[in-house]
Amino acid sequence: AYSLWNDQIVEEGSITVSPEDRGYQFGDGIYEVVKVYNGQMFTAQEHIDRFYASAEKIRLVIPYTKDVLHKLLHDLIEANKLDNGHVYFQITRGTVSRNHVFPDASVPAVLTGNVKVGERSIENFQNGVKATFVEDIRWLRCDIKSLNLLGAVLAKQEASEKGCYEAILHRGDTVTECSSANVYGIKGGKLYTHPANNFILNGITRQIILKCATEIGLPVIEEAMTKGDLLKMDEVIVSSVSSEVTPVIDVDGHAIGTGAVGEWTRKLQEAFEAKLP
Ligand code: PDD
Repeated sequence: AYSLWNDQIVEEGSITVSPEDRGYQFGDGIYEVVKVYNGQMFTAQEHIDRFYASAEKIRLVIPYTKDVLHKLLHDLIEANKLDNGHVYFQITRGTVSRNHVFPDASVPAVLTGNVKVGERSIENFQNGVKATFVEDIRWLRCDIKSLNLLGAVLAKQEASEKGCYEAILHRGDTVTECSSANVYGIKGGKLYTHPANNFILNGITRQIILKCATEIGLPVIEEAMTKGDLLKMDEVIVSSVSSEVTPVIDVDGHAIGTGAVGEWTRKLQEAFEAKLP
């Protein structure tokens, strides 16, 4: 397999990352995941824009232009002959003797990336999945796609051990998002989801779903739900690059709506599918 290492496409095994890389020691960096359909990246520009926005929020300088990064990701996909799956890339604040304070500007950031083969989870899209509530113990800048994922890892592990696909996170009574996805409720012909602020990652898939909703005549209300609200929704869905529009039919043993995948969810899935390459 080939990987991205700074501005080169290299054999995966030839990469050397120092134990003093700030990503390794502090999680001091950011990342993105872009879905690849039939060899083509989907919404690459939106992901690249968010990558640069995350970098700016942590004052990390990416030493390449967006166009150069786009070309590198394209080359990485070609080198691996990837048809369906995703490309992962991250950048850290570089390698320097451990010190919380930023290194000086001469220390170069470290960019790495790789691809993963994977087919779409059609069965989940068709039949829906189970989820569980988990307290959201993450930090207060969830709008940044940071490498620090311990809060997400612990929540997802808890969900997995309960036989659930996702952890629906809540701060007190307020539902925010999932460990690695956004969450929505549909009730009375309206779509509810948490507003895009510091408590959630504004998913690229989320932005597409909100467009799809408007297109199919499903009004969007960007207001947080409580846990009680969510359980009373007619339909619940989660979304991410890999989850696309995944229906949730059960939360902690409570059936959502009729316990079967709803009509609006099906319409959103169709509208979403129509946008894929
Ligand atoms: N996760 N919220 C969180 C906390 C996420 O980690 C993600 C994505 C999303 C959905 O964003 P998008 O639609 O842009 O994928 C929302 C990625 C896929 C991951 O960590 O693997």
